[in-house]
Amino acid sequence: MTGPDLTARVGTVTLRSPVLTAAGTSGHGDELSGYGDLSELGGVVVKSLAAFAWEGNPAPRVASSGDHMLNAVGLAGPGVAAWRSTYLAALEKRGATVIGSIWGRNVAEFADAALAMRGAGIVALEVNASCPNLEDRSSIFAHSAAATSAVVAASRAAEVPLWVKLSPNTPDLVAIAAAALEAGATALVLVNTVLGMSIDIEHRRASLGNGGGGVSGPGILPIALRAVYECRAAFGSTPIIGVGGVSSGADAIAMLMAGANAVEVGTATFANPRAPWLVQAGMVKWLRRHDVASVSEIVGAAHG
Ligand SMILES: Cc1cc2nc3c(=O)[nH]c(=O)nc-3n(C[C@H](O)[C@H](O)[C@H](O)COP(=O)(O)O)c2cc1C
Repeated sequence: MTGPDLTARVGTVTLRSPVLTAAGTSGHGDELSGYGDLSELGGVVVKSLAAFAWEGNPAPRVASSGDHMLNAVGLAGPGVAAWRSTYLAALEKRGATVIGSIWGRNVAEFADAALAMRGAGIVALEVNASCPNLEDRSSIFAHSAAATSAVVAASRAAEVPLWVKLSPNTPDLVAIAAAALEAGATALVLVNTVLGMSIDIEHRRASLGNGGGGVSGPGILPIALRAVYECRAAFGSTPIIGVGGVSSGADAIAMLMAGANAVEVGTATFANPRAPWLVQAGMVKWLRRHDVASVSEIVGAAHG
């Protein structure tokens, strides 16, 4: 049986499928290649990298219960230059469409990381604006329109399409997204983790070494859907990538109907490393069952 057409367009970037991996949940390179053909996915978004190697947070870094996971990995990674020389070739060899991701502790560090990404051969760069802003101790970049605008502008040094990854932990998401688009972002990636915490009651302390962390997994799907829906309503045809709690084909279809042009699969991959392929297969099944010839037809369908 042929079809449906899975081609997804995220601005000027054409992807062979709307299903991608989410940053930080599929490693730095081709770690998932033992579980499926990376070239069948829309893309692999690698873990966020700084311009320098970074150790991350103290252990324990993850805790999970029920339908969610809590993490405070703290953006551990080898840095952009070491990633380019150690991990990137393996992804290319697998035929993966590679999307980079960067972070920094201040605006200058975003510029450094973006510059280090220039010429890497990535199709787009996620700007992880949802990380702590050391110059403003009370906040993360993506909780402020001005700070988000500054990190997006600094990331233009990469000279590739910029997908800005925003935080759901703000009542001002639409205004912050508008500032990011104004500063040069070509797509919105919605959303990063939800701020949270868990308590180890036997030891009477926080479960994670960092204290608090970020909540992900099926429990946050409604939060991500609402963020996508509101930004689609606010920004018309601006490209949106939905991420948060997607673990089935039905979840991906819901995200597309809310207004996403593509979706990323994150925490589901920890439960089953084949999750991105299973989500894609489930999505195809739904499209066939409903005689949808092209996945692009259902983007934004929930807006009537
Ligand atoms: C262990 C872990 C590490 C993550 N690392 C990153 C990261 O490096 N950069 C980033 O932008 N998001 C990171 N995220 C957030 C995910 O990409 C995603 O936005 C979030 O988990 C919600 O999607 P999910 O519910 O499908 O996991 C991480 C999430 C987890 C669970």
